[in-house]
Amino acid sequence: MAFPTDRPRRLRSSSSIRSLVRENRLSASQLILPLFIIHGTNKKEAIRSMPDVYRYSVDNLPPLIKEAMSVGIRSIILFGIPEKKDEMGSSALDPDGPVPTAVRMLKRDFPDLVVITDVCIDEYTTHGHCGLLKGEHIDNDTTLDCLAKMALVHAEAGADIVAPSDMMDGRVKAIREVLDKNGFSDTIILSYAVKYASAFYGPFRDAMMSGPQFGDRSSYQMDPANRMEAFREASLDVEEGADILMVKPALPYLDILRDLAGRFDLPLCAYQVSGEYATIMAAGKEGWIDTDRAMMESLLSIRRAGATMILTYFAIRAARLLAQSE
Ligand code: PBG
Repeated sequence: MAFPTDRPRRLRSSSSIRSLVRENRLSASQLILPLFIIHGTNKKEAIRSMPDVYRYSVDNLPPLIKEAMSVGIRSIILFGIPEKKDEMGSSALDPDGPVPTAVRMLKRDFPDLVVITDVCIDEYTTHGHCGLLKGEHIDNDTTLDCLAKMALVHAEAGADIVAPSDMMDGRVKAIREVLDKNGFSDTIILSYAVKYASAFYGPFRDAMMSGPQFGDRSSYQMDPANRMEAFREASLDVEEGADILMVKPALPYLDILRDLAGRFDLPLCAYQVSGEYATIMAAGKEGWIDTDRAMMESLLSIRRAGATMILTYFAIRAARLLAQSE
């Protein structure tokens, strides 16, 4: 059957009909808010390439968390900017560093908040790479021990979920073993399983005041040309004990998200990264696109592709809009 019997426009005829037949929806509880935590007190620093995003010291977090929760956000992920960096990223293991300190405060004052921590040493090393060095080589196996210890420090502080983003081989297994051995068998691992070597991380490196001092990350992050490799990475992480899989970035990799959603039965997280955020914000500021509509369309497309949850710098802005439209 076809026209004139079939008329798809019938199902678009009013806002109520469109809402009735809508296949995908976005809810604030599916959004994860990323937060940059800087050492010290009374700090709220703007980030040049990420309008409306700031680096906060721990004491300045509560009003922001209250605002986020008032519009329905229930989950956050923490990235730390330590006072001191060294070759080994030692400050990543400091229980009094910005991230563990923030975790303790948040779990005490906002017990219902899901607190996720990013586990990676790049922000803590002088060279800015995600692994320990042997000469100019990023050494996989010596890094594993450091990552597992870092995850344990976060779990001890009270993190609900640890999220390794380094792309070393075997880190999910190493982290699971150390957590279990120390009585943290309930701590969830959200693995950045499929993380591409992307140009869209640019503004994040600005935010974190990190970034590789030599070379690039293509010896550990994935080649944007590859699809099969994503399945392999995801399978390995599932075998090693990941509870949630992540694809990063989101919009340029919707095909990968779609494929993983069809192949794996774990919840899937998509990371709408700093460059995706900055692109929409910049074009919006110029008046070239409608920021709110582009934001919602991109978030919905990520859900449609198969993401259960979305990590996004738009979390509060989107949640506020969703709250208004209810
Ligand atoms: C590594 C890490 C990065 C991001 C999250 N975790 C940077 C990188 O791999 O270069 C990027 C996130 C973003 O761009 O929003 N710790």
